[in-house]
Formats: sequence, C-alpha cells, structure tokens
Amino acid sequence: MNNILITGGAGFIGSTLANFYSKNHKVTVIDDLSMGSKSNLDQSANLCFIEGSVTDSILMEKVLTDTQFEYIFHLAAIASVADSVERPLETHQINFDSVFQLLELVKSNQFGLKRLLFASSAAVYGDEPTLPKKEESVIRPLTPYAIDKFAAEKYVVDYYHLFDVPTSAVRFFNVYGPKQNPESPYSGVISIMMDRYKKVLNKEETMFTMFGDGTQSRDFVFIEDVVQALDIIAHSQDTLGEVYNIGTGEAIGLNELVSIVDNFLQVNLPIQYEGERSGDIKHSLADISKVKAVGYQPKYTIKSGLEKYVAYEL
Ligand code: UD1
Repeated sequence: MNNILITGGAGFIGSTLANFYSKNHKVTVIDDLSMGSKSNLDQSANLCFIEGSVTDSILMEKVLTDTQFEYIFHLAAIASVADSVERPLETHQINFDSVFQLLELVKSNQFGLKRLLFASSAAVYGDEPTLPKKEESVIRPLTPYAIDKFAAEKYVVDYYHLFDVPTSAVRFFNVYGPKQNPESPYSGVISIMMDRYKKVLNKEETMFTMFGDGTQSRDFVFIEDVVQALDIIAHSQDTLGEVYNIGTGEAIGLNELVSIVDNFLQVNLPIQYEGERSGDIKHSLADISKVKAVGYQPKYTIKSGLEKYVAYEL
C-alpha cells in the first residue's frame, strides 16, 4: 500500500484517479474546490481530503512533511484557457508557481518519493498545424495557460536531470468522461453536449451551440484510458524525466460525434451554428507512439468511450 498525493483531486481527472487508487492505496487529495467537488470522491477510509490551495506554501510543506508520499500527481490548475487570459497573474501563481514550489519542497523533503507526475497540456503545441503532434514537435504556446504549462513541464523534467527528483510529465489531449463539469462555456465540448442530450431526453428545451461548421476535429481520450496511462507512466523506470502525449492517436470531427450519440439515443440534438470561437484550432491529433512504447494501449475507441459515458450519464 502506497501513500499517494493528488493535487486537484476533487476535479474531473483528479477524482477519477483518486477513486481508482483509493481501492488499494492511501490517497490524500488537496483541492480548493474552485472547480472540483467533494461529491466526486468515493467514501473510503483510504481517502483523506484536505481543502486548500496548492499555492499555500505552509500548507503544502505540512502535507509533505506529515506523510512520506511515494507518488504525487500534480493536477491542480486553472484548467480553462479562457480563464487564464482573463486572470494571467492568478493563473501563473496556480499553474506555474505551485509546481516550482512543489519541486523545491520535494527536492528537500521526499526521500521515499518514487514519482512526481505533472499534468501538462496539448495546448503547448499551439496553432502550428502539422499533425499528428509528437512530443518533439514544434512548441508554440499562445496563452498564459499554455505558456505556464510548458514552463512548468520544463522545470519538472529538469529537476530529474539536475537533482534526481523522480519526475515525469504528460500532455493531455481532449479528455472526456463522467464527472467532467459542463457548467462553464469553456468546459470540454463532450460534457456540454452530454448536458444538452440530458435535457433533450427530459423533454426540456435546449440547444447545443456549434462554434464553426462542426468539421473541426480533436483527439478525444476517455478518462479510463487517461488513468491507465498515468498509472503506467508513474510506475515505469523508462519514463523518468520524460514527457508523454496522452490521447488515442485518432481524431474525430464534432459533426460525426453528434451523429454517433444521436444514433445511440435515437434523438436529434438541436444545434445552433455560430461563428468559430476566437483562438480555436481546427484540428488536433496526438502521436502516441512514445507512451505506447512503455505499455499504454487505449482500450476505448471514441464510439465505445461515448457509449460508456452515455450509459453512465443518461
Ligand atoms: C482543449 C482543452 C484546453 C487545452 C486544448 C489544447 C478542454 C475543455 N479544453 O481545448 O484546456 O488547452 O484542448 O489543445 O479540454 N465547441 C463547440 N461548442 C461548445 C464547446 C466547444 O462547438 O459548446 C467546440 C470548440 O469551439 C472547439 C471544440 O468544440 O472547436 C473543442 O472544444 P473544447 O472541448 O473546449 O476543447 P479545445 O478547444 O480543444
């Protein structure tokens, strides 16, 4: 049984990871509940919840000295790109300073640490159009969110090479699945779609807004595959000081996505087409050969992932 710390552990990805590990390990979650919710977490004697911010250095030092963690997953972040444009300074404190501070704390305190895994984003690739994205593709971060993710990721990897802190970083593509919050206009598109389908099934009036013509495409990866990838990367020795794309290696257009779910549910999602969202990229796709080489194999196609998500939500 290991001690595992998950920052941002009440959010979508963090809570799914926390619930997965708390079956067999002692999990500590720290979350300021700005986006996440305690109700995402299973009731388990193995799960300890701390409400607080990763920017609180006194709290973080206490958490890290009270328990010797073998694994730390640093997922806490301002997760919305739009939010980062509105609040660049606060984003920097949360998305960059907290990482740097954690690295310093771990460097001096965590002798039993086996891995610190940092969640970065496909946003670091920006709008450079060459696809699929390999880890060594051109990096063109265009927003405070992407700049901080890239800088933090670099420090994370560097602390392994410079100070032997056992670290790895991942770049998430478009993650979807249960517990993703659809409330904000910048929530993941599939969670927003799912919310609208729920309303259609409840015979409520609703409309899904499609920004652009629906031909834009993304590499949507189901949350269970993300958990699989994180677990493999955290436990492999080959992944030390490395960065990995996490996606499926397949992209799908939004119109096609809608027709798959329409077909499952035998309904027609009402769609209102609007102009493209400013700053949107047209297509995104991960090359996942690097993470496949350490044993990851996505188990879900977009169809089977959506089917499971629909069965859970609706
Ligand atoms: C995603 C990430 C972002 C990351 C970026 C990296 C999410 C929520 N966002 O942004 O953090 O930096 O990848 O490449 O995972 N759309 C609609 N209607 C809606 C909502 C969205 O048509 O109601 C469209 C968007 O305009 C976009 C597509 O759906 O074309 C995907 O949007 P979204 O889920 O926000 O993801 P990304 O923009 O890819």
